[in-house]
Amino acid sequence: MPGIDEAFCNHFPRSRQLAEKASHVIPRRVTHDARHMLPFPIYISHAVGPRKWDVDGNEYVDYAGGHGSLLLGHAHPKLLAAASEQLAKGTHLGASHELEIRWAQLITALVPCAQKVEFTMSGTEAVMLALRIARAYTGRRLIVKLAHHFHGWYDGVYCALGPEGHAAASLGLPPAALQDTVVLAQNDARALQAQLERREVAAVILEPSGARAGRFPADRAYLQALREMTAATGTLLIFDEVITGFRYSPGGAQEYYGINPDLCTLGKIVGGGLPAGAVAGKAEVMAVMEFGSANPYAKGRVSHTGTYNANPVTAAAGIAMLSEVATGWPTRQAAAAAAELRQALNRVLDSEGISGCVYGESSVCHLHLAPPAHCPPVLPNGNIPADFPIASLLEGDKVLPALRKALLLEGVDILSEHLWVSAVHGEEEISWTAEAFTRALAWLRKEGLVSRR
Ligand SMILES: Cc1ncc(COP(=O)(O)O)c(C=O)c1O
Repeated sequence: MPGIDEAFCNHFPRSRQLAEKASHVIPRRVTHDARHMLPFPIYISHAVGPRKWDVDGNEYVDYAGGHGSLLLGHAHPKLLAAASEQLAKGTHLGASHELEIRWAQLITALVPCAQKVEFTMSGTEAVMLALRIARAYTGRRLIVKLAHHFHGWYDGVYCALGPEGHAAASLGLPPAALQDTVVLAQNDARALQAQLERREVAAVILEPSGARAGRFPADRAYLQALREMTAATGTLLIFDEVITGFRYSPGGAQEYYGINPDLCTLGKIVGGGLPAGAVAGKAEVMAVMEFGSANPYAKGRVSHTGTYNANPVTAAAGIAMLSEVATGWPTRQAAAAAAELRQALNRVLDSEGISGCVYGESSVCHLHLAPPAHCPPVLPNGNIPADFPIASLLEGDKVLPALRKALLLEGVDILSEHLWVSAVHGEEEISWTAEAFTRALAWLRKEGLVSRR
């Protein structure tokens, strides 16, 4: 039996060729860091429902899930019909249109804090705008972000993402980019209190699930304390719901946890799988966007442009998606499938005697393979204790590249350590995945990459 890399090269000859071609015109070969793989990434030709196929003809159960945007799976007929109908009517109308109002109405109906909505083209842009709104509304400069929390690639929050501490997460950031960003540790209410008491912070932004889409879960009491401390100090609370929005519940994590932020950022699911983002929040705060004079660039308000904001094709797909979300079934169905998947994969780890766990909340699963000392217990709700050390969870990173490749060899695609489960993943996909996981573990065992319990 060859090793994983050798098998990988043999199994994906067409992907290998395409990666070689890409290297001549695309410097990192891929178009998103998370798609980087060695010896090369695979190339997908098409996708339907919970499945996709690569250019070599291999079939996968897909858990990359459009990076979390495909709550209804690939190419859902209702979303396709809505987007196609609008495509034929024009992709950019260079003007206001009715769909943007309907889209905003659906968001305000679903998301508790959303009294008003502004559209952007990505989650990153939504974060940029939310922070601009927060600074304008409060007249304060500083932003608090939490270590390991991801908010897209905007300079002002592009730090403290990995084990290397609070440093910028990329070269090329201007030295001043992070000077108004304070990084605090997740779940440390005391540090937060000390910082907020100075009343210099415009907003605290965080992933309400806990860092990295809930891979490092947030403590619920901490979320509650965060709400109380921000309110008491005139600081805005921004939930970055780019992942959790419409997934944790139809109203997102804020509905799921029963905590109302002042603003939230939305992306991914909000656009039905087409490029989109939004900032939603309290009317009083969002009022800083309103025009108060005839000059659109007048001082005294937050200005925002963007050629593709609320473009009609995305709006049509977004309306179709949110209309389904409003029924409640996609969120419920995806969460039920994810719970089953977690149990099935944990049973595989048990029966194979391998140290690791699969955990998560709602329809997100995280795969963690590490020696027993670095493995948390999985609680009856499917998640792990919020006080389990992040450093231990990061031990799981070591095996992730090989795990991803082994799973691809066996017909399953995941994104980093995450599995995004959709409402159309069924029993068949779960059994397929459990069997593929068993075989993938054999590859890892052969290379000495897993520990016994
Ligand atoms: C929590 C969170 N915020 C913001 C973003 C950035 O969104 P986008 O990739 O659409 O710019 C992401 C992307 O994964 C995210 O997970």
